[in-house]
Amino acid sequence: MAQSPILSGTKCRLEPFAERHLTERYVGWLSDPAVVRHSEQRHRKHDLASCRSYAASFEGSPHYFWAIVANDASLGHIGNINAYVDTANGVADVGILVGEHASWGRGFGTDAWLAACRFLLLDQNLRKVTAGTLANNHGMLAVMRHSGMREEGRRRRQSLWEGAEIDMVEAGVMREEFADFLKQGSA
Ligand SMILES: CC(C)(COP(=O)(O)OP(=O)(O)OC[C@H]1O[C@@H](n2cnc3c(N)ncnc32)[C@H](O)[C@@H]1OP(=O)(O)O)[C@@H](O)C(=O)NCCC(=O)NCCS
Repeated sequence: MAQSPILSGTKCRLEPFAERHLTERYVGWLSDPAVVRHSEQRHRKHDLASCRSYAASFEGSPHYFWAIVANDASLGHIGNINAYVDTANGVADVGILVGEHASWGRGFGTDAWLAACRFLLLDQNLRKVTAGTLANNHGMLAVMRHSGMREEGRRRRQSLWEGAEIDMVEAGVMREEFADFLKQGSA
């Protein structure tokens, strides 16, 4: 995994994913149909070994994998965020999972996403951050909007979701757009 300091948001911090984050609690998120309902993980089965091997896949790579840890110590580790960096093109594709239902809708997703975007675009100086989601994942679409991302395209009827064909939304934000977005304080 590429080196990253701990990244601070206002409600949570992003800690480089480590052995201490590899818990049954994390495995439980990936086995919870409500959590993975809009994620590609809904098609897979996970256990501690598969999660360990996923974390290990970042070793020696230019990519990042962080644990989202709430500042409220009673909540602790509430999810994960990853960034796949394409160094040659100066871009990163980011994904997020907030695993604790009780933490949804409380701003953690947006806070963690903004911390990752700040690091990738403003500290690492990448040109652009991208993300994709099912068109019916309203929480994720809001997180994207709250970081200044714009829809750039749709893969029509790309995914099969609970028996229906659903579009995939592709979104992105350029470094200068993100800096302007933060200046306007419209997150
Ligand atoms: C999508 C996800 C990251 C959102 O995280 P979160 O911590 O709930 O996000 P926030 O609290 O910052 O909420 C952002 C906005 O989304 C809204 N929202 C959150 N979950 C929502 C849902 N299920 N349906 C509709 N809106 C939702 C919030 O109300 C908030 O609205 P606002 O525009 O009024 O601010 C989180 O629900 C999650 O990880 N889900 C499971 C995994 C997943 O779907 N990952 C993305 C795969 S592409």
